[in-house]
Amino acid sequence: MNHSQLQTPYFMIDEAKLIQNLETAKKLKELSGVKLVLALKCFSTWGVFDIIKPYLDGTTSSGPYEVKLGYETFGGETHAYSVGYTEQDVIEVADIADKLIFNSQSQLTHYRHLVEGKASLGLRLNPGVSVAGQDLANPARKYSRLGVQADQIDAAVFDTLQGVMFHMNCENKSADSFIELLDSISVQFGHYLDKLEWVSLGGGVFFTWPGYELEKLASALKAFSVKHGVQLYLEPGEAIITKTADLVVTVVDIVENEKKTAIVDSATEAHRLDTLIYDEPASILEATEGAEHHYVIGSCSCLAGDQFCETQFSQPLKIGQRLHIMDSAGYTMVKLNWFNGIKMPSIYCQRTSGEVVKLNEFGYSDFKRSLSQWAV
Ligand SMILES: Cc1ncc(COP(=O)(O)O)c(C=O)c1O
Repeated sequence: MNHSQLQTPYFMIDEAKLIQNLETAKKLKELSGVKLVLALKCFSTWGVFDIIKPYLDGTTSSGPYEVKLGYETFGGETHAYSVGYTEQDVIEVADIADKLIFNSQSQLTHYRHLVEGKASLGLRLNPGVSVAGQDLANPARKYSRLGVQADQIDAAVFDTLQGVMFHMNCENKSADSFIELLDSISVQFGHYLDKLEWVSLGGGVFFTWPGYELEKLASALKAFSVKHGVQLYLEPGEAIITKTADLVVTVVDIVENEKKTAIVDSATEAHRLDTLIYDEPASILEATEGAEHHYVIGSCSCLAGDQFCETQFSQPLKIGQRLHIMDSAGYTMVKLNWFNGIKMPSIYCQRTSGEVVKLNEFGYSDFKRSLSQWAV
C-alpha cells in the first residue's frame, strides 16, 4: 500500500524505529538485570505488541481495563496499579495480575485479603523527590496523592508486602539525576527495601534518548538491586515508543490574520492532546526551521487556541498538501476522543518488510456509539 493512497488523518507506526528503541531496552536489561514492563497508559495499540513482546517482560497498568488488555494481548508479567481501586476492580484484577500495587495504606488494608494467595502484593511509595519538567506531571508536587510519603509509613506493612513501586520521573534524560533519586530512595527507604522481593522504579527514564548514558544507568540499577537484594523493574512508556510514529494530516485551508495559518484535518484537542495540556508544540517533518515561509499549523477544531505549532517552510504550503506531525505515538492514541465529531485518525504500521498493515479505522458509527447506545 502506497502511503499517498491512505486517507488522512492517520498514525503511521514505523516498525524499524520501534525495534531500534527496543534493542536499547534489551541492552539495558542485559547490562543491569532490570526487568521492563510496558506502561500501557502511554501506548496500548495492541496490534503491534507482537513486535514488542520478545523484548520486554510484560505490562503495567493504571486502571482495570489496562490490566485486562495487558493480560490478554501481551502476556508475560501483568502488573496492576491504580491510584484508586474499587472493591470490584480489585476482585477482577487479582485473578489476572501477577503483581497488584496499591496507592495507599488504606487501600492496602481494605483490600489485601482479596489479593493474598493470588498476586504478589505491592505498595506505591512517594520519595518526595522527582525529576519532572512540569508541575502537572510531577508526582512529588505539593499535596501529591500519589503513593505513601516517607513520614506516613507504618513500618509493620513491610512484614507482609512483597514489593514497592516508586514513580518520580518524567522524560528524565539524565542518568546522573536519576541516580541522585536512587540514592535518596536508598537512604530514605533502604531498611524497608531490604525485606522485599521486588522494587519498581516506575517510568519516565528516557534511556532511548540520543546520548543517554545507558551504561551508567545500568550499573547504578545493578548496584541498587544487589545492595537491597531485590529484583528491579522499570515501567517505560515513552522511552519505548518515542519517535516511532507520525500523525499524517492534510492542509485543508490557509487563512491569514497577521500570521498565516494552515488548517489541517486534525486537532490537538482530539488527536494529540498532550500538545495542548503541556503546551509542547509539535514538530513537522516537512518544516525547515528559520526558512522564509512562516505558518501556524492550526487544528480544525473550534477551540481558538488549538494549534500544533508555529514553524517555517522553504516553500509556501498548499491546500491538499500532507504534513507529518512527528513523534506522535506516546500518550496520543490512548487519549483519542471525538470532540467536534472530527474524523478519527486510522492507525497503520509500516513493517520492516515494506508492507503497510492497517491496525484500526473508525467511522461515523463509532462516533455515534460513543455518545449513546440507547435513547430515552
Ligand atoms: C506509575 C507510572 N509508571 C510508568 C509511567 C510511564 O511513564 P513514561 O511513559 O514517561 O515512561 C507513568 C507515567 O505517568 C506512571 O505514572
